[in-house]
Amino acid sequence: MSASPAPSAGPLSPLETLLPARGQPEYPLSAELSRLYGGPFGLPPDAVYSNFVVSLDGVAVVGASSGSTLSGHNQADRFVMGLLRAAAQAIVIGSATLSASPGQVWSAEQVFPGAAADFKELRRRLGLPEFPTLVVVSGSGALALDHPGMARPAMILTSEAGARRLAGQTRHQVVSLGPAATLDPLQIVTAIRAAGHQVILSEGGPLLLGQLLHAQQVNQLFLTVSPLLAGRTKELTRAGFVEGVDLLGEGVGEHLALLSVHRHQSHLFLRYLAKQSEDP
Ligand SMILES: NC(=O)c1ccc[n+]([C@@H]2O[C@H](COP(=O)([O-])OP(=O)(O)OC[C@H]3O[C@@H](n4cnc5c(N)ncnc54)[C@H](OP(=O)(O)O)[C@@H]3O)[C@@H](O)[C@H]2O)c1
Repeated sequence: MSASPAPSAGPLSPLETLLPARGQPEYPLSAELSRLYGGPFGLPPDAVYSNFVVSLDGVAVVGASSGSTLSGHNQADRFVMGLLRAAAQAIVIGSATLSASPGQVWSAEQVFPGAAADFKELRRRLGLPEFPTLVVVSGSGALALDHPGMARPAMILTSEAGARRLAGQTRHQVVSLGPAATLDPLQIVTAIRAAGHQVILSEGGPLLLGQLLHAQQVNQLFLTVSPLLAGRTKELTRAGFVEGVDLLGEGVGEHLALLSVHRHQSHLFLRYLAKQSEDP
């Protein structure tokens, strides 16, 4: 997803709905949000959902600010990212995504300022606080505490050793999930829920998302497919949006259910249900 400020561009034309979502809640969107998204949008009250942009050949990581590079600073991608953030109570990221996203504060307004007032109004209508809580996962506790994203109240999920390392270093809520350096993904989600956040957006990176998916903690995936070919070499292995886990198990992975498809020029916006049992 894009991290740097939006480049100046003309007004965004609406997304085209190729496949509308069925069986999902519908938020009280303003007329403008509904127009730009190309119809209704909403999430289940306990949604854990992810949002990534990938190149046409599946690359999600090309260094710092990967999303901006991959989407080509695409305005429609930024709008969808803003809408997904506007719906979130918490946004959870790994420490590597924090450090790879200079200047990012993980707010809807920052990523798509043109709809700032509408995003704000949506949060008001949903009874949400002005901004989602940023949750940073770091087993080591070695994270960039001076990052602009940490300027607002945030939560750090870490290990016992990480909590010792962070002691006295931060005013943010630090939650230790036990002695293991690798935190249990189920405990990660449980701790976020225990802090009062039920609608949880994961903005990565691929290592954190892989663990959440492996533990079946993600209900929905939003994926922007950018019309860009990135390529890979032996040296440039270039991660996809799920890394560090084997989701094929004994050779057969789970086939997800396609929930909706939107299009903006040559960018595709796909939404999947993570469990076939939830097929609408
Ligand atoms: N294309 C996109 O839409 C998109 C979106 C987001 C990010 N990105 C890109 O992805 C890259 C970063 O992603 P990444 O996959 O390398 O890293 P990441 O998932 O963002 O962060 C990995 C780090 O998070 C912590 N962590 C994650 N899961 C943990 C667990 N279960 N227990 C303890 N600690 C855990 C660890 O931190 P410690 O080492 O501190 O213990 C780990 O080193 C960046 O280049 C970014 O630009 C792309």
